Amino acid sequence: TTVEQPFANAANTDFAIPANRQWIEELVDVWKDKTFGTIPVQVGGVEETTENLTDGLDPSRPGKVLYRYANGNATHVELALQTASQSQSAWEELGIEKRAQILRQFATVAAQQRGETIGVMMGDAGKAVLESDAEISEAIDFADYYSRSLNTDGWNDGTTSSPAGVVVVTPPWNFPYAIPAGGCLAALMAGNSVILKPAPETVLTAWHLACQLWEAGVPREVLQFLPLVDGDDGKALLSDPRTSIVVLTGAYSTAQLFQSWRPDLRLYAETSGKNSMIISSAADLDLAIKDLVRSSFGHAGQKCSAASLAIVLRDVYESDQFRNQLRDAAASLHVAPAWDLSADVTPIIRPPHAELKRGLTQLDAGESWLLEPKMMDDNPCLWSPGIRLGVKPGSWYHRTECFGPVLGIICVDSFEEAIRIQNDNEFGLTGGLYSLDVDEIDAWRERVEVGNAYINRTTTGAIVQRQPFGGWKHSAVGPGAKAGGPNYVAAFRDWTETALPQ
Ligand code: ALA
Repeated sequence: TTVEQPFANAANTDFAIPANRQWIEELVDVWKDKTFGTIPVQVGGVEETTENLTDGLDPSRPGKVLYRYANGNATHVELALQTASQSQSAWEELGIEKRAQILRQFATVAAQQRGETIGVMMGDAGKAVLESDAEISEAIDFADYYSRSLNTDGWNDGTTSSPAGVVVVTPPWNFPYAIPAGGCLAALMAGNSVILKPAPETVLTAWHLACQLWEAGVPREVLQFLPLVDGDDGKALLSDPRTSIVVLTGAYSTAQLFQSWRPDLRLYAETSGKNSMIISSAADLDLAIKDLVRSSFGHAGQKCSAASLAIVLRDVYESDQFRNQLRDAAASLHVAPAWDLSADVTPIIRPPHAELKRGLTQLDAGESWLLEPKMMDDNPCLWSPGIRLGVKPGSWYHRTECFGPVLGIICVDSFEEAIRIQNDNEFGLTGGLYSLDVDEIDAWRERVEVGNAYINRTTTGAIVQRQPFGGWKHSAVGPGAKAGGPNYVAAFRDWTETALPQ
């Protein structure tokens, strides 16, 4: 007999071990110059390329085509929906334990292929090795954690609940592996079939993930892979009554668009944010600055959880210690392509869109640069970190999610005002507080309006089971249950009214 081990998070690679350093150096050497072929559509159990190809680009080398991918069309949408509807009941009938085994097998495959996955994300997403390594651990955690949902969520086959049906997963490019993995794994565990529509910027990574899921034993008809660039095709897929649930991580405006297409859409979305960190007069300043820099500039500020604002009490804000230490810490970050193992800030996914460009290059009245961002190496995707001082409550920067390596600082006169400004936001994804004062901590916990509230800890890098991840206000649409936490898998089933999980 086997005794089931309690859930434990997968460990990241320990690069303090010389053999691991040698492994990654050799790996990066091989992968940095790789190119890939054409990625097909996979619907109806068949791989197919189309005439309609899009280039996949490497943000570290502008203009270099890394691969091409085939775009699906209206015929593929119809075939995918038919196939997903037909394959779903056999997948449910396979039973919880068999599906859980397949999830655990995926965790094994993902761990075995850690190196390849790092290599894929390095080119496809411009992601630094340490960031990719953590993302792979998160995907393994999702698989392990969701495979135990019978215990954590208390649901059983057939009696009080049934699978929702067909789930469409539409992930983002910033976590191109863990987020699609999380959506697919939860939906699959609950007995649904899945159509994965990858983010157009990171199709290679999503394809790599789909291949691993098939290798682990998910049937090709149960998980289909369908890149779509044409808005009408996307609309047809989401509006079709055979689609039961759509999982989205993206902008709030995208969630609104989806809902305009289909007002009764069952949408599970994690959407935009404008996350901030309060630094109180009672903060451990060394810790606050170290974590603020990580929260703001990790993955070049392109995490939905990133801190793009610090709300700082006046005595700290005006001190030389705060300004010098923050500026020096950010200026010391190494800005470099993803294959550079010492890179702290890697390229942004594409040259800055209008809002990020404004955030990186234009100040408003009363603002000044503590550190002015610069484009590096003639690469429009590679920017050094920027820090804007004197951001005014209600100003453009306060309100706008820029999604890049830029941080703004707001000065406040009281702790009360700091909380008020932190909450004065239509979004509420993550929020942080740095303070060693227990009364401040208690007051903040009572009042902060965010899905993930962190005290004396970075606002990024939520850990499965320990910090289930999800937003509040306009940072979330949908089931209430958070990714990587209890009841998330159960949310992908339909419940008889008396049997909702507690
Ligand atoms: N789950 C990701 C994080 O916490 C977005 O940073």
